Amino acid sequence: MNFKVFDSYEEVSAYSAELLAKVISEKEDAVLGLATGSSPVGMYKELIKLYEEGSLDFSKTKSINLDEYVGLDGNHDQSYRYFMDTNLFDHVNMDKKNTYVPDGTAEDLTEGAKKYDELIESMGGIDVQVLGIGPNGHIGFNEPADELKLNTHVAELTEETIKANARFFASEKDVPTRAVTMGVGPILKAKKIILIASGENKAWAVKSLVDDVITTKIPATLLKLHPDVTVVLDKEAASML
Ligand code: F6R
Repeated sequence: MNFKVFDSYEEVSAYSAELLAKVISEKEDAVLGLATGSSPVGMYKELIKLYEEGSLDFSKTKSINLDEYVGLDGNHDQSYRYFMDTNLFDHVNMDKKNTYVPDGTAEDLTEGAKKYDELIESMGGIDVQVLGIGPNGHIGFNEPADELKLNTHVAELTEETIKANARFFASEKDVPTRAVTMGVGPILKAKKIILIASGENKAWAVKSLVDDVITTKIPATLLKLHPDVTVVLDKEAASML
C-alpha cells in the first residue's frame, strides 16, 4: 500500500483526480469504479475542472458504482445515481449509457445483484476503483462481520452507518436500512485502487490499514492483499499512523 498524506482536503482531491486522470488518459475506454459520499466530492470537482480546461475527455469512459440504497430510485435526491449525476456525470462528456449504478428498486434484488457482477465481467473488470472508508472500516457497504460476501449482494446497514449517513436525510428514520453493494470480490479484482479519507473520524479505520492484521471485522484490511492501492489522506485522517 502506498500512503500519501496532504495538509488539506483540497490537496487530497487534486492528487486523487490526478491519479484517475492518468488512467483515463492512458486508456480512453477505461472502466472507473466509483464511490459516493463526502470523500470523493472534491475529486469529482477537480475532474470537472480538468474536463472544462480541455485536458480530459470522458466520451469513451465507462463507470460502475459501488452501491445504491434499496428502495431509492434514481430521481430521489439521496440516491447514489442522483449523487453521481449531479456531482460528475452531468458536468462532463460522459455518455450516461456507459454509467452504471446498482438498481435499488429492482423487483428481484438478488437477480439484479447477479446481473451486476456479470456486467462488471462483461466490461472486462474495473481499471481503477475509487473507495471511501467508513469510520468502522467498511468499504462499499461491506460492513464489519464474521464473514464477508464475495459478490454483489443486498447488505443490511449497521446502526453506526445509518447514524453516519443520517446527515444527508431529514431524519435518521428516513435512512434506508439496506443497500445493494459490490462484494469484496469485484473491488479486489480492480487493477488499481484509490482510497480517499479525510477527517479525524477516519483515523482509526486508516490505522487498521497499516496494522499487521487482516480481518473481516474491518473490511478495508482486505485491501492489504491487493498489489496496487494508493491511500490518499489529509493529516487528520493520518493522525494515528
Ligand atoms: C459510498 C460508499 C461508502 C463510503 C463510506 C465513506 O459509495 O460505498 O463506503 O465510501 O461510507 O463515506 P464518506 O466519504 O461520506 O465519509
